[in-house]
Amino acid sequence: MKLEYAVARPAEVAADLLILPSFDGPEAGPGLAETGKALGVDLVELLTANGFRGRLGDAFAIPTLGNLPSATVLVVGLGTRDRVDADRVRRAAGKVATRVRGYRRVAVALAQGARGPWQDALTASAEGLLLGLYRFDTYKHRDRDADRLQKLTLVGSARWDGRQARAAVQRGEILAEATAWARDLVNTPALDATPEFLASQARAMAREVGLKVKIWSKAELEKGGFGGILGVGRGSSNPPRMIELEYAGGRGKPVALSGKGITFDSGGLSLKDAKNMEWMKSDMAGAAAVLGAMRAIARLKPKVNVIAAIPSAENLPSGEAIRPGDVLRHRGGKTSEVLNTDAEGRLILADALAFLAERKPAAIVDTATLTGACMIALGDEIWGVMGNDDDVVEELLAAGDDVGEPGWELPLWSGYRKKIDSEVADVKNTGDRYGGAIVAALFLEEFVGDTPWAHMDVAGVAFAQKPGDYWPKGATGSPLRTLVRFVERRAKKTS
Ligand code: BES
Ligand code: MN
Ligand code: ZN
Repeated sequence: MKLEYAVARPAEVAADLLILPSFDGPEAGPGLAETGKALGVDLVELLTANGFRGRLGDAFAIPTLGNLPSATVLVVGLGTRDRVDADRVRRAAGKVATRVRGYRRVAVALAQGARGPWQDALTASAEGLLLGLYRFDTYKHRDRDADRLQKLTLVGSARWDGRQARAAVQRGEILAEATAWARDLVNTPALDATPEFLASQARAMAREVGLKVKIWSKAELEKGGFGGILGVGRGSSNPPRMIELEYAGGRGKPVALSGKGITFDSGGLSLKDAKNMEWMKSDMAGAAAVLGAMRAIARLKPKVNVIAAIPSAENLPSGEAIRPGDVLRHRGGKTSEVLNTDAEGRLILADALAFLAERKPAAIVDTATLTGACMIALGDEIWGVMGNDDDVVEELLAAGDDVGEPGWELPLWSGYRKKIDSEVADVKNTGDRYGGAIVAALFLEEFVGDTPWAHMDVAGVAFAQKPGDYWPKGATGSPLRTLVRFVERRAKKTS
């Protein structure tokens, strides 16, 4: 599929489907009046008569019967006029993406209806459409509506700088492509998506986009003292791995990223029940988001250094598996008592965080589908964030706001640290029933030393139980775009 940018009025665009904006009312958006004139109808009247309001994602198709070079005009609602921002454009575009299926040449002119920087709205319109079109069909015998879309044209205004506009469109393409790639990793069943699979995908990706990559084998993890990753991986015949990536884009201390890469979380000997296990192939969504973010970063080239260490293991019960009461020795020497083998994410992240802290990075950010407790607290649209450094937390929240992936801070309340005091080890891996998301973060904090650090709990947002505005049921790719934005903010700060 070809993606391009063009400046044109509706009367000049030759597409099979031309998408134009309306505001709530309905109230004509840019290009609608002109289109009505060409068709010889009052479009607002026509839309109103057909019950179209122009709320976010409302859509109404009008055949142009040869009166315009485009065969069909799809009017799409952006909602209340002065509230239209880049995220509303992304969501509206995503909601109507399914209507685009079946057309070969599609033109979109939604960004012109937004307030705020037009570049962001343009990027968002490309993202919304491309992400809304995403389907996971690797395992379908037939690809049903074998994508007919051949050309997607983002239509801009003559007032916009062409070079900037093309960059904004390309940015949307890069982010959507990386997100689709990450979604595929998450949606791939754990039978196939083993730690070694994740590692080989990361290796191929790194070579493709020009990142440095090192895969840590089981033997190397043993030599390096990664007892958490090895312990969690013991129960599975698919051996654990750690993926190390490096992007060199600037000078100075790197930003460090980590993501939880549990390819399947059965709970281990502390076995989950059937319902709670159904979607646990998605327990590597943090890893996928970091991998996808690195893929996008390599193509967007921000002027900053980034390193990533992604621990991956499969959490299964077996005669080899770790048991409740076992003690693991992590990278760097700290020990943890495993009282619940289902609190495994923190065990593998502990090693990766300790490893990253050794490199003295400017900051560490980890992202993980870590606790059901975070999901209970914030639901399935908002990720939680906790850290030892207010700036890093604030920057993550701001980055999430920028890209339409909202997060919220939870307190890293040191008063709860005593909940994970252990009789036999430095720390134990579970507390009591309460404050589970916070307790998990306090566990991780033990392993970052004095490095500025923040942890994103994405258990709620990474995998959707029902379709959303620009994602089908399944992997969302979140918080990939937040991570990229965070790194870009860091690049601005240091240059
Ligand atoms: N991967 C789960 C958390 C999770 C639950 C993610 C639901 C997405 C949806 C994690 O490994 C886990 O099992 N956490 C336990 C921790 C508990 C044993 C302390 C939990 O949240 O119940
Ligand atoms: Mn678990
Ligand atoms: Zn887990």
